[in-house]
Amino acid sequence: MSSPPVRLELRREAGSTSVWIGSGALDVALTGLSSLLGGRRVFVITSPPLRQLHGEALEPLAAAAGEFQVLEVADGEAAKTPETAIGVWRTLLAAGGKRDSLIVAFGGGSIGDLAGFVAGTFLRGVDYVQIPTTLLAQVDAAIGGKTAINLPEAKNSVGLFYHPLATIADTGFLGTLPPRQLRSGLFEVVKTAVMRDADLFSRLEADLARLLAGDADALAESVKLTAAAKIGVVEKDPKENDIRQLLNFGHTLGHALELSLEMLEHGEAVGYGMLFAIDLAVARGFAPGEADRVRALIRRIGLPPLPPTVPLEAVMARLERDKKAREAGLAWVVPLHIGSGEICTDIAAEDVRHRVGDFLGGRNGC
Ligand code: GLY
Repeated sequence: MSSPPVRLELRREAGSTSVWIGSGALDVALTGLSSLLGGRRVFVITSPPLRQLHGEALEPLAAAAGEFQVLEVADGEAAKTPETAIGVWRTLLAAGGKRDSLIVAFGGGSIGDLAGFVAGTFLRGVDYVQIPTTLLAQVDAAIGGKTAINLPEAKNSVGLFYHPLATIADTGFLGTLPPRQLRSGLFEVVKTAVMRDADLFSRLEADLARLLAGDADALAESVKLTAAAKIGVVEKDPKENDIRQLLNFGHTLGHALELSLEMLEHGEAVGYGMLFAIDLAVARGFAPGEADRVRALIRRIGLPPLPPTVPLEAVMARLERDKKAREAGLAWVVPLHIGSGEICTDIAAEDVRHRVGDFLGGRNGC
């Protein structure tokens, strides 16, 4: 029999976020949140496919709320535009949204990013709850208060740290996740394990076949352990000034690949980015045996092949843009051991260019 949902707390400077995790977490959490919902005007932000697939799961929420309205936005990254945010703000106003209304994000990471951004800015900030339905959002995006929309020039370029009152990661939703999205989420689990939790990494090695097969217990356990590791990081460094940057392992090259190629899921791009960062780490002393373990796990999850020619100049231009994002320059997150990492800003631009060229030229081990 699967274990009951657990409730973790993410403690913040002002208040805390309850994080419910497990199969059936939504029902358990709604009971726990009934005083918060009672009589309140609740606006759910979701996408049409998700509403069709899992809309009935929101019925207890609708019953508990004072008033209840569902707002549909585009699925995936297409939801994260200024135009969508403006449309949602205006709909909220027209529908009588107030400072004490409650916004609920119901969907994957993009819906969560948009809904959190709208909640943080509408009437200078209204409460919100995250109900993530993808593995990627349950282990990463819906925890820690990062919210954002995109500008044409750059992803996540407008946003704020704004924490939900609660995150409800009901792992029952993962049962309908397409295999590619499941694998994409697993790369974020690997990321957190390599940076923060060697035991979780060993567990992933042992349980990977069950995870890839969608085994509900194995998934629930991985979500719990990954979320717990992330909560520990966010409590220590909420605004990503220090160790929270470790959770960007694989994201430096990953973002550049994701944006230049437009054929990779976010987690897949992070998978490639981790392979590249492991090469950098080995050159700085990361033990080859440990590097091989991480590479082997990434390969077992499975990455789609890159196109025969990858536009190096486009990838380098994206990295250059990232470099300008911080005064300290481009940051590479590399493992020291499995379970710990460091941030390097001292890798010469020419060295990076050379290594990226080699990596994309086919010597990337996939
Ligand atoms: N996605 C990494 C973080 O939330 O810090």
